[in-house]
Amino acid sequence: MKTVEVKPDICWVGAIDWDRRLFDELIPLPDGTSYNAYLIKGSKKTALLDTVDPVKTHILMDHLKEVGADIDYIIAHHAEQDHSGSIPEVLKHYPHAKVICTSKCKTMLIDLFHISEDKFIEAKDGDTLSLGNKTLEFIHAPWVHWPETMFTYLKEDKVLFTCDFLGSHLATSNLFVEDENRVYEAAKRYYAEIMMPFRIPIRKNLEKISDLTIEIVAPSHGPVYDNPEFIINAYREWISDDVKDTVVIPYVSMHGSTVAMVDYLVDALMKKDVGVKPFNLSVTDIGELAKALVDAATIVIASPTVLGGAHPSAVYAAYLANALRPKSRFVSIIGSYGWGGKTVEQLKEMIKNLKVELIEPVIIKGHPGKEDFKMLDEMADKIYKKHKNIIKKR
Ligand code: FEO
Repeated sequence: MKTVEVKPDICWVGAIDWDRRLFDELIPLPDGTSYNAYLIKGSKKTALLDTVDPVKTHILMDHLKEVGADIDYIIAHHAEQDHSGSIPEVLKHYPHAKVICTSKCKTMLIDLFHISEDKFIEAKDGDTLSLGNKTLEFIHAPWVHWPETMFTYLKEDKVLFTCDFLGSHLATSNLFVEDENRVYEAAKRYYAEIMMPFRIPIRKNLEKISDLTIEIVAPSHGPVYDNPEFIINAYREWISDDVKDTVVIPYVSMHGSTVAMVDYLVDALMKKDVGVKPFNLSVTDIGELAKALVDAATIVIASPTVLGGAHPSAVYAAYLANALRPKSRFVSIIGSYGWGGKTVEQLKEMIKNLKVELIEPVIIKGHPGKEDFKMLDEMADKIYKKHKNIIKKR
């Protein structure tokens, strides 16, 4: 992709990673991603906002050559390497450039890249930097999703640069959002995987930018928003305490007993018009599971007992849910065992971060029969009633 103008003298100079399929060796990227870097040419000085993942440094450098940049400042919003990884190379080509970032970010960049301390200028919250006819304001925004993060607001053009925050892992040839539905899904998935554990700090950061007049939100992954309300409102919805009338069921089954329970529970919930999203952990994309956790009222983990405890895939799902801290209100556990074990105790112990009420688990011996299905009917009824109490829909 060539460089593209966001607004006059504000240029996208990043890189698209069409083929990347995994982030942090953990998060699936079905749509690839982009590392957005932006060049702002003021009448006196030029600033580069973020860089790109080290595997794409050559593309960034080509783009900088193409726009004929002479960089005075590198604004580092976030120390994670997909945005900071090309800073050493940029500094090599523009040795007089200074890196501007928060003091925490400076420490991290020194730790990661051994950049010399005299290359840095610390940006305090609310500091401004003049590029001549353009003014950058730095806004500290900790915990989106590391502690050192900040945004930049370009006052004259009313552009807010947010790095990871409000972004999406979506490789596309369109600089701006073309299809809001597609971007909504990608941004929700991104929020689920990266931002959801920080739902409460995000509230403060959204509040902090609420007085700004924003015409464009330019994140460092995915398309740029020329309708900022679209993504800001989506975030407001995701970080709110409101949950949806949905049950997420991550499950695994070894010989068909647990899945028979899952199938029955799914049907029982559907008969009551409760939304259900089952995820077979043997084949599921964990990003989709994370996305479903963003607003589901209830999680039911379904696992057979193996070697005295939960199946490792169910352990993984419980660990993930605990780490992502969704706002779900209820949780339960179902599953089958052969001769005994501590599946419920083990899984309960693993989800202590979740502020949830436990609905009585249904753990049965062998393949489910009539009495077991009755217990699942009762569980479906409890879930229906609990949802009814907290969700305005009905
Ligand atoms: Fe896109 Fe936290 O890095």
